[in-house]
Amino acid sequence: MAPAPVQIADDGAVRTVTVNRPDKLNALNRATLEALDAAFAGAATDPGVRVVVLTGAGPKAFVAGADIAEMNGLSPVQGRDFSLLGQQLMRRIERMPKPVLARINGFALGGGLELAMACHLRIAADTANVGQPEINLGLIPGFGGSQRLLRLCGRAAALELCLLGSPINAARALQLGIVNEVVGVEALDARVAALASQLATAAPLALRGILDAIHVGGECALGEGLEYESTQFGLMFATEDMREGTAAFLARRPPVFQNR
Ligand code: COA
Repeated sequence: MAPAPVQIADDGAVRTVTVNRPDKLNALNRATLEALDAAFAGAATDPGVRVVVLTGAGPKAFVAGADIAEMNGLSPVQGRDFSLLGQQLMRRIERMPKPVLARINGFALGGGLELAMACHLRIAADTANVGQPEINLGLIPGFGGSQRLLRLCGRAAALELCLLGSPINAARALQLGIVNEVVGVEALDARVAALASQLATAAPLALRGILDAIHVGGECALGEGLEYESTQFGLMFATEDMREGTAAFLARRPPVFQNR
């Protein structure tokens, strides 16, 4: 039997989701997209999970793209369906009610960069390579890359990456704002674990409010976004965690957030 294309492991409140096709550099075929979608749907509703780390198995790749072998035989209708399946997954990740951190351990190309861009934070090893090389296949990005790259780092960089199709190294990706941080490959696990642990102990309802406000703000006019922020801000005063956070500050002790 083929190994599961996605592995799930929990360490306390941190869930790690690993794309597990290392012999194909973790390329995203239908089965993997569906397994990832199920993994994120499960993590979204599991009260024991406060943060999700997404990564790829093996030393070489986060995800080297959509599965080219599988795409080669698709009809236009199947191609559109494949795009919609990928977009649905990216949307689910982007709209997760808890933070999702991409651990970029190597190639993040095509669908791999699209997957990383749907996450809320991106930490890359200095050996990572990212890009949108679809043009070299006679294709365009299909899992949201043309839209998220544009919004993440602007028109010039989005056009450069998509038109030229040449991967860029981690340092350039940092410069362009595609990744949040670059660390030595040997330090990647420790840095990801530290950030995940920080997020796992933060106030979950406030984290969710931030994710919602920034997502909504990215899709609407400033006035509407500001109104949404005020409503979310007001809602926080209904939480025990807000009372705890402010009381702990005043008492000069660390807060303990209960997700209430
Ligand atoms: N889809 C399907 N299979 C893929 C893949 C993809 N996106 N990326 C890599 N693979 C497979 C290769 O076909 C190869 O399989 P095989 O051993 O059965 O022949 C295996 O993964 C290893 O890849 P290989 O190309 O031999 O590794 P490399 O170190 O020489 O090169 C890359 C690494 C990432 C530069 C190269 O694999 C590549 O260009 N991949 C495609 C990237 C891409 O265009 N992504 C966008 C897709 S829309």
